[in-house]
Order: sequence, then C-alpha cells, then structure tokens
Amino acid sequence: MSHTFSKSAELFSRAQRSIAGGVNSGIRKMEAPVPLYFDHGNGCRLFDVDGNEYIDFQTGQGALLYGHAPEGMADAIAAQARKGTHWAAQSELEIEVAERLQKMIPGAERVRFNNSATEVVLSALRLARAHTGRPLILKFEGHYHGWSDEGLVGYAPPPDKWGDENNPTHIHPSQGVIPEVPGTFVVARWNDPDHLRQRVKEHHGQIAAIIFEPVLCNTGCMPPVPGMIGAIRELCDAEGIVMIADETITGFRFGAGCAQGFLGFTPDLTILGKAVGGGVPFAALVGKEAMFEKIINGQVVHAGTLNANPLCLAAAKWCLDQVIALGDSHPFGMIELGEKLMSGLTLLAEEHDVPVVPQGFGLVFHCTMLKPGVEEGPVLDYRDYAQRHDAPRWAHLRRCLLEEGVRAIERGLWFISLSHTEADIDEALQRAAKAFARHAAEWKPPC
Ligand SMILES: Cc1ncc(COP(=O)(O)O)c(C=O)c1O
Repeated sequence: MSHTFSKSAELFSRAQRSIAGGVNSGIRKMEAPVPLYFDHGNGCRLFDVDGNEYIDFQTGQGALLYGHAPEGMADAIAAQARKGTHWAAQSELEIEVAERLQKMIPGAERVRFNNSATEVVLSALRLARAHTGRPLILKFEGHYHGWSDEGLVGYAPPPDKWGDENNPTHIHPSQGVIPEVPGTFVVARWNDPDHLRQRVKEHHGQIAAIIFEPVLCNTGCMPPVPGMIGAIRELCDAEGIVMIADETITGFRFGAGCAQGFLGFTPDLTILGKAVGGGVPFAALVGKEAMFEKIINGQVVHAGTLNANPLCLAAAKWCLDQVIALGDSHPFGMIELGEKLMSGLTLLAEEHDVPVVPQGFGLVFHCTMLKPGVEEGPVLDYRDYAQRHDAPRWAHLRRCLLEEGVRAIERGLWFISLSHTEADIDEALQRAAKAFARHAAEWKPPC
C-alpha cells in the first residue's frame, strides 16, 4: 500500500466541528477510509494534502471533461474575474455561449442558464407541466435527476420497498419532502419498452413529461437497449408528452451533439450540467422554441441571482470551444482509451479471480462486482444492478485502488477525460494490478 491519509483524517475531524457531518454533499462521506482533502490537480492527476498522487477517474463526478485546472480555462476565468464576476444583468458572453449551444445541439433552439443541473431539472419539469397542463412526470427507476424533492423520486429504492415490477414505487429516499410530490411521479423500469408503453397507457392524458438519462450512469452504466429511446420518442409524439433528456453526465462527453447526437434522437428539452462548465457551477436548459413559450411570455417563472454570471460563462465558452475544436474525432479518442482501461481491468479480474465486470461505452463505464452465484451478462436495469452488484466487495477493491493511486467513483463508475493519455491508462493498470492482488489476498466476505 503506497498511500496513507493521516492529514485528511485530521482535517476531517476538524471539519466535523464546523461543517455539518464534515462534508458539503452527503455522498462524499462514502469515500473510504476517510473523505479526502485535496491540494491541487493537473490534467488527470490529483494531489491530496498527504502528498499522495492519484490518476483520477472520478474527475469531479464527471464535470472535469478537460481535466484538472486546464491552463486556458484558468486564464479565461482569471481574465473575466478582473473585469467582474457578477452583474445580475446581461453580457455578450451569454449570447456567445447560447449561440455555441445552438450550433452544437440540433434541438437547442432556445436556452436558459442556471448554476446547477438540479435547478435546471426543476425548470424543465415546471415548464413541461405548464406547457401540457398535466400533473404527472414519468421517470425511470435508478435514474438520478438531482437532489431536490422532484429529482430523487424513485431513484434507488431498497428491494423491500421497490414494489411490484409492473408498478414500481415512487418513494423518495429523504425525509422532509413535500408529502404530495412523490405522488406526482410515475416510475417505470429502464430498458423495457413494453413496460413503458403500459405505464403511459395507465396514466393516459395525465403525463406531462418523460425524463431520463440517455445512458443511465447513476446506478451502474446502462446504455439504452435497441428500441428504448425510440419508444420514448414515439410515446411522447403520440401522447403530446414532453421528452426531457437529462444529459448532465452525457452532455459533451459523447461529442458536441451530446448523447442525443451520438445515439441519434432529438428530445424536446435537454438538461446540461457538469462538462458544460468544466467544474464551475454552470448548467443549462436547452430545447425547442415552442417549449420555452411560457418562459418567454412570463407565465412560467425562471430566475436566479447568479444565473449567467460572466465568471461561469467565461469558463463555459472556453469548454465549448475545446469540444468544437475536436470536431468529429470526439468522443472516439476517449472511447478508445476507456475501452483499453476496461480490457485491462477485465484481464486483472481474470488473473486474480475477482468477479468484477466493467460495462459501458469506455468514456464512462461502471465496474459491477458480481455477488457470489449470480448470473453473468450485461446489467440492464436498476433492479438487476441492485440484485447482482456486491457493493461491500467493490468498496474494498475501490479502497485498494485508491491506496495504490487510482481513484474511481465510490459507487463503481469511472470517467475518462480529455486529459488522460495512453501512458496514463498503462500506468493506472500497473497500479491497479497491485490493488487487485491485495484485494484478492485480503477480501473476506462479511459474516
Ligand atoms: C443525470 C444527472 N442529473 C442531474 C444531476 C444534478 O446535478 P447537480 O449536482 O449539478 O445539481 C446529476 C448529478 O450528478 C446527474 O448525474
């Protein structure tokens, strides 16, 4: 084991005396052996306060598509900071960013900006309900749409509460939610077009929007099965439902046209976050002009003190220019690197008899750790994932990887960035080999 974490542990103890629970986003507590404190990052390398260096595949939960602290972005932010960070008014920059989005994404006829994708989801759902005059939103089990009362309904219900497979529950994992909100959601299982058709039929004339992650990345990594996205589009067209693609993770990762360009569909509204700002708080709602009518005429409220602040816009403009400059080569370089990493991890798994299976498109993939005795083969939906993924065993391997200087996401996801190179992947696999050996020697299933 090459990495130890005593300074992070000290800072975490100190943090708990001022910051509630010691972290500023609940999920960060999952990092074992202790939530880490970082000093700086550069490209795909990240350095913590104990002097440990990591090849980073967490990449700011996917926001850092361009790597840590890219120089051009730092220059763009610094130049804007000297002119002003926030005017709560208009700037030419906001038009420049909006025009880039229009050119890159076919369905982006109009845009609005916010500071987080959680907010953009709320705007999209409000707009869809106002546009259709209907009360219900259909979402898929396992899909994550931010941490609000609306975004988390039916996200990852425990097996004893997830309900009949034809009627998945719409429970919310948090206390304190407005009691009526979960009841305004219809939950469907992912990757089952017939089941989706049935859910829509049961609520005929009541559904305002279908919201989904085009490639499910928040519980496993599950591309849509053939016919899935087509079924969503068809149902939306036939029933007058607003199709909302939540591209917070996939946006710009899958190319200038996002996952919708990569997979070949056009939603009515799209949620963009993470890579659109490359690590600054910036997010956007884009879509067909008709969808924005009620925002344009003021019947739907959309607001925010820090919306379209020039500091974040300067960063976003720089980010979008990187993607535009890559042209058609993006995302294929990242896919190739990711596939190399997935193959290397698969070989290590075989060599050390560890039942871990990488699944995804390379540029984002998930390591499913199979529970003893479960079937092999692709994981297709949240229930399948929850039944087959051995979370405690993955957590042990993830910790071994971290201690050897390879940082994946706690729940099993890996992101490739534009700053990773083939040499970085080779080095990550060399480090991973030590981690797999240690995991195989040390792992003991809980009694
Ligand atoms: C698909 C998806 N939608 C929405 C969000 C919420 O984004 P934010 O945390 O920026 O509010 C996330 C965050 O991970 C996400 O993955």
